Amino acid sequence: MLEYIKDFDNHLAPFWKPGSIPAEQYRILRTRILETARNKGSKVFLISSAVLGEGKTLTAINLAISIVQGTHETALLIDADLRKPNIADMLGFEKDQKGLAEYLTSGGDPADFITKTSIPGLSIITSGLPPENPSELLDSEYMSDLIQEVKYRYDNRYIIIDSPPLIPITDSTILSSLADGVIMVVRASTTQRKMVNEAIDKIENKEKILGLVLNAYNRSVAYKYTYTYNYH
Ligand SMILES: Nc1ncnc2c1ncn2[C@@H]1O[C@H](COP(=O)(O)OP(=O)(O)OP(=O)(O)O)[C@@H](O)[C@H]1O
Ligand SMILES: [Mg+2]
Repeated sequence: MLEYIKDFDNHLAPFWKPGSIPAEQYRILRTRILETARNKGSKVFLISSAVLGEGKTLTAINLAISIVQGTHETALLIDADLRKPNIADMLGFEKDQKGLAEYLTSGGDPADFITKTSIPGLSIITSGLPPENPSELLDSEYMSDLIQEVKYRYDNRYIIIDSPPLIPITDSTILSSLADGVIMVVRASTTQRKMVNEAIDKIENKEKILGLVLNAYNRSVAYKYTYTYNYH
């Protein structure tokens, strides 16, 4: 569970404010995910959600930072939201630097598309310039080759894939078949249960679902509700 962060002007909480509540919540999330992942032998995580704006990108970035900061592991963050990419921007890279879209269009050595960030242990593959046919590109052999290559090159590396929402488009269904585990971000008090169920239906192998992240949970509203519920 990740609380709603008021005046959220600091997206990279674990990096800039290691002692803050959001940083602590991401650390808890990391520990839970890695525990489950180690038991299942999962290394490649897809971060998705039912609809737009639930907090996928923020969760993907902060989870990746929490992994490299608190463990001996490294992380590769892949922006596979080819339609609405945000990772390059949020980490201070040029939006049009070559990335996943260029690799998927012309192939090449995946290593040439990996960029190191200023955060030790964290590398990224940015999305690149939005292509015209994202679903076809993600469904190609180039994409599965990329995942295999980055998964087996280093033993101590986790791969985190940011993606578009599951309900409106097929991209994340395709990506879920390539990932070892899927983490669903659900925006608290916003996304309806039936939408979450509809999104889960789009993941073919349900066993891959590592868990749900309840994001932007508003503690004060929840407490008020509990009070009302208990005493009136
Ligand atoms: N826990 C939170 N507290 C406060 N604001 C949040 C929280 N999580 C996400 N947000 C804000 O909600 C907006 C959407 O977040 P984000 O871009 O991570 O979602 P997304 O699921 O990747 O969206 P999209 O589907 O458009 O790619 C951003 O402005 C982000 O800062
Ligand atoms: Mg996003």
